[in-house]
Amino acid sequence: MKRTRWYKDGVFYQIWPRSFKDGNGDGMGDLYGVYEKLDYLKSLGVDGIWFSPLYPSPCADCGYDISDYYNIAEEFGGMEAFRKVLDGAHERGMKVIMDLVVNHTSDEHEWFQKSRRRIEPYTDYYIWRPKRPDGKLPNNWDSMFEGKAWQWDDVRQEYYLHLFAIKQPDLNMDNPLVRQEVVKILRFWLDMGIDGFREDVITFISKREGLPDASIPAMRGIFHYNLGPRLHEFLTQFRKEAFSDYDCVTIAESALITPEKALEFISEGEENELDMVIQFQCMCADCLFTDFVPMPFSLYRLKNAFSSWQEKLDGKAWNMLYLENHDHPRIISRYGSEQFRIQSGKMLCAMYLFQKGTPFIYQGQEIGMINWRAESVSQYEDVQTINHCPHWPEDKRLRLYHRASRDNARTPVQWDSTEHAGFTTGTPWFTVNPNYREINVAAAEADPDSLLHFYRKAIKLRKELSAVRFGKYKEYFRLSGTFYVYAMESPSQRVLVICSFSSEAKYFRAPRGYDLAKGKLVLSNYGSSLRNNGFTSMPYETRVYVFE
Ligand code: GLC
Ligand code: CA
Repeated sequence: MKRTRWYKDGVFYQIWPRSFKDGNGDGMGDLYGVYEKLDYLKSLGVDGIWFSPLYPSPCADCGYDISDYYNIAEEFGGMEAFRKVLDGAHERGMKVIMDLVVNHTSDEHEWFQKSRRRIEPYTDYYIWRPKRPDGKLPNNWDSMFEGKAWQWDDVRQEYYLHLFAIKQPDLNMDNPLVRQEVVKILRFWLDMGIDGFREDVITFISKREGLPDASIPAMRGIFHYNLGPRLHEFLTQFRKEAFSDYDCVTIAESALITPEKALEFISEGEENELDMVIQFQCMCADCLFTDFVPMPFSLYRLKNAFSSWQEKLDGKAWNMLYLENHDHPRIISRYGSEQFRIQSGKMLCAMYLFQKGTPFIYQGQEIGMINWRAESVSQYEDVQTINHCPHWPEDKRLRLYHRASRDNARTPVQWDSTEHAGFTTGTPWFTVNPNYREINVAAAEADPDSLLHFYRKAIKLRKELSAVRFGKYKEYFRLSGTFYVYAMESPSQRVLVICSFSSEAKYFRAPRGYDLAKGKLVLSNYGSSLRNNGFTSMPYETRVYVFE
């Protein structure tokens, strides 16, 4: 199948279904709710939807623990509701991509139930190890979510590996039968008409031979099991046996990946293993590798991350651009300012939407939803959060969770100022952020200066500006501690994006070769006044100029 790479012209919207919109009043977001909101999504100007998992799941990790790969959970409306949404999206010219979670399944998946009873052919579908004579665990790896990476199973009388929660046993991808299952799953959904996959923690699927101990304690987790030896082989097989028959997109979640490493997977060619990676460097301007090790925000780290991906992939591979998803706290609370919520939200929008790549917007980001301050630890739902330092005193845990928890991004979308933010007519499954009376879609629709309208305008502009799609990225004033300034430059058009990350007034002077008076100011969050080919910036000011 000829690959058109349609995704290069698109902007995606991510739906985390439990909290998007409840359509049947049971308090849980679902596909009826999504169907109601398709026109809203279309009105944003987005070209596609990425759904976080919709499959049946016991929800130990909010759907990332799948118990049936060939169905849609009843609570989301089942297969019928899904087909309706799929058709509805396609009718409106929007693509639909699904989450592919095959590093692990739920322990309630039939494969695991059979594997633990040694029923063929499932015996080696998972990674089992016997008890060691010295009584130690099979190796010293840590899991991401729940203690050590090994869990004893009474039925099989062996340990199984779980890189995430205990209820998420890792599949044994070295087993060719398991890879055949993956191919079957891919083809099933692609045949149904979906347009691609976001591949969950896909860089973990190949484990090091013999599962050796990690020598350095800090390396017992992710550093040790990421990017295993057969990863290329497995991804190539998925490309050959499934993806290459469809004009689809593949986007790989890739923790700790660098642009250099990413190029091994996404360098463009007819058979490239993957189309884009979800890198984490852009999420590490205020933390060390994970949100749970906070650091002060550094504009240099942020600029470095964005610039290095723009520069190193240019002409070779395609970027996936994002500032939020269901795994990270809200971006205004991190890189912007809750005090200057609208202005910093607009600045962050312009900051990433004019770079080269395919942007993703996460539900609620477009109205500037911010972090949620739980009053007690017991309000948290997320398995990663509640297992993080469980022995710390409550106030210390709360402080960290306020800053780092994924639940910050998982509170229901705030649609209007009525009870439960218009998310549900029933009792919401999860706390609604009490700020919904002020922050909601209806209020944003009614206000011409809202962040929502700014997103619409920015998305539309992005599509009109050929330099964003075809130009070359160039960063200016790398050493500035206030401004992030870049341009997309092509022979016929230059787009200059100016972003202040400061709440203080600072003078900005245009880079050499740019005469602001001659440019067209196409997007801004304050005024347009100029002084000496520059201006004194307002808090979190942003301006986008076009030169033709
Ligand atoms: C990915 C998902 C995350 C999930 C984890 C385990 O990182 O985005 O939500 O908890 O994988 O599946
Ligand atoms: Ca529902």
